Amino acid sequence: MIKLGVNIDHTATLRQARMGDEPDILQAALTAEKAGADGITVHLREDRRHIQDSDVYNIKKHISIPLNLEMACSEDIINIACDVLPNTCTIVPEKRMEITTEGGLDAAGLYDVVSAAVKKLQSKGIKVSLFIEPDNKQIDAAKKMGAEFIEIHTGLYANSTGEKQLQELERIKNAVKYAHNLGLIVNAGHGLNYTNTKAVAEIEHMNEFNIGHSIISRAIFCGLHEAVIEMKKIMRS
Ligand code: PXP
Repeated sequence: MIKLGVNIDHTATLRQARMGDEPDILQAALTAEKAGADGITVHLREDRRHIQDSDVYNIKKHISIPLNLEMACSEDIINIACDVLPNTCTIVPEKRMEITTEGGLDAAGLYDVVSAAVKKLQSKGIKVSLFIEPDNKQIDAAKKMGAEFIEIHTGLYANSTGEKQLQELERIKNAVKYAHNLGLIVNAGHGLNYTNTKAVAEIEHMNEFNIGHSIISRAIFCGLHEAVIEMKKIMRS
């Protein structure tokens, strides 16, 4: 069964809008856990626009399910990860001006930098995932540098419609098969929601989805507990 990592960044987006302490990020993590989330994901961005350092420490201390820390390949953040010791770190590309992570990591082009980060994190016992496009060149680079996981960027699939969306789905399917055959564990995420997740969940060998924006958006109307349960139902149906 595919696991669900609930990304709670956007509860922190709401909190940072007033720079206060509501909504409580730890409560969001614990609520998602209670509703059946298989993991909690947070992205500690270099500009700290939502999740703060203290959130990462606090969540790691109190949850009983795995913590996945999304992060750029930056020394400062790598050092924090090596101190927090999340179960997994997912290395993502990061641009200051982007609204959200805009594309996959160029693991092949930035091989030496990414590979050094992978080794440093792994030396602390952290498993590493690389957030990449469904592209064999990137998958080969992830395998070569010894990452345990890849997370396939589903943004192009999520943001397209009709024939183009079917093409993107096919590209994801081929990439999952290719990576699985190389022995990589395959996750996916970005832009997955209550209508487009089912088709991706039907792909064989998927390990986990990391889903944030759609779950937190739905939670405004039905509560986070219900929003997590509903997403898990879709993934199973
Ligand atoms: N996976 C990764 C690596 C991401 O960077 C993000 C966005 O922070 C997500 C998953 C979740 O994307 P969304 O919020 O669109 O569900």
